[in-house]
Amino acid sequence: MFDVDANGISIPVLGYGTYKVKGADGSRVVEEALEVGYRHLDTAQIYENEADVGAAIAASGVPRDDLFVTTKVWPTNTHPDRMLASVEESLAKLRLDRVDLLLIHWPKFETTLEETIEQLVAAREKGYTRAIGISNFNREQTDRAAAVSGGTLAVNQVEYHPFLDQSALKETLARHKMALVAYSPLAQGRVIDEPTVSSMADLKKRDPAQVALRWLIQQPGVIAIPKASNPERMRANFDIFSFELSDEEMHAINRIGAPTGRLVSPADLAPDWTA
Ligand SMILES: NC(=O)c1ccc[n+]([C@@H]2O[C@H](COP(=O)([O-])OP(=O)(O)OC[C@H]3O[C@@H](n4cnc5c(N)ncnc54)[C@H](OP(=O)(O)O)[C@@H]3O)[C@@H](O)[C@H]2O)c1
Repeated sequence: MFDVDANGISIPVLGYGTYKVKGADGSRVVEEALEVGYRHLDTAQIYENEADVGAAIAASGVPRDDLFVTTKVWPTNTHPDRMLASVEESLAKLRLDRVDLLLIHWPKFETTLEETIEQLVAAREKGYTRAIGISNFNREQTDRAAAVSGGTLAVNQVEYHPFLDQSALKETLARHKMALVAYSPLAQGRVIDEPTVSSMADLKKRDPAQVALRWLIQQPGVIAIPKASNPERMRANFDIFSFELSDEEMHAINRIGAPTGRLVSPADLAPDWTA
């Protein structure tokens, strides 16, 4: 495992995504992820599992300083009157004094992008989080948000997997020294049937999911947060540090993706992805 530097913040390159990991079963699954070795956990207010993740962290015995915990503010909590209180609620549920990374979940605001990012900066100044970032922002919104933050945003968390070309956004993020956190890195499981990835996996005696994750984390400034509730898959997804993809293999997977290969684009939340 290695860390990615994102505007001075070190982030473990592989995290565990907790969407739909909920309740007592969810806590058990998160504890299992911590036993496997994951040290970076991704949750959100809307997942309604912050308390379950908090319970797992408390039960795991993993020292707080060894963990990197991200949560995300839901659009309806972005109003300046509400944002900080909603983050306090998240912290109480997570049983933490502060998170490591606090994100705005979607570029949909109760007031404006500028006021929302100012509140995010205020959350950091209050010590509620070590670092701040955005999620699902397009390039133009990323530029605006980075400017309001005084160039201190650490990441933009967006969909990224072999079916989706994110090279334009990656250039924008590199310009701001921000990392790209790849969500749905396995294309929600679809990547295992992709012919280039699966034949490469056969040749390398690896799983297709391992090849897809390796392809992501081998790119500068890219972090991946796969979700697996099955313990064997959780373990397999963590076992990606003992092999490499050649330049040719990297290029072969690069050629699969198209800007239109997106799976997640809710009409009421998504920005114009081309801007
Ligand atoms: N910021 C955002 O708006 C946003 C949006 C979506 C997701 N996210 C974050 O990103 C995380 C991951 O994304 P995701 O859950 O959408 O999709 P994903 O990680 O791409 O795929 C998860 C699916 O793949 C399966 N899987 C996992 N490992 C596998 C393997 N080795 N071989 C075969 N299948 C495998 C899982 O099965 P099992 O679970 O049955 O093991 C699950 O059905 C989320 O949990 C969440 O934290 C953020």
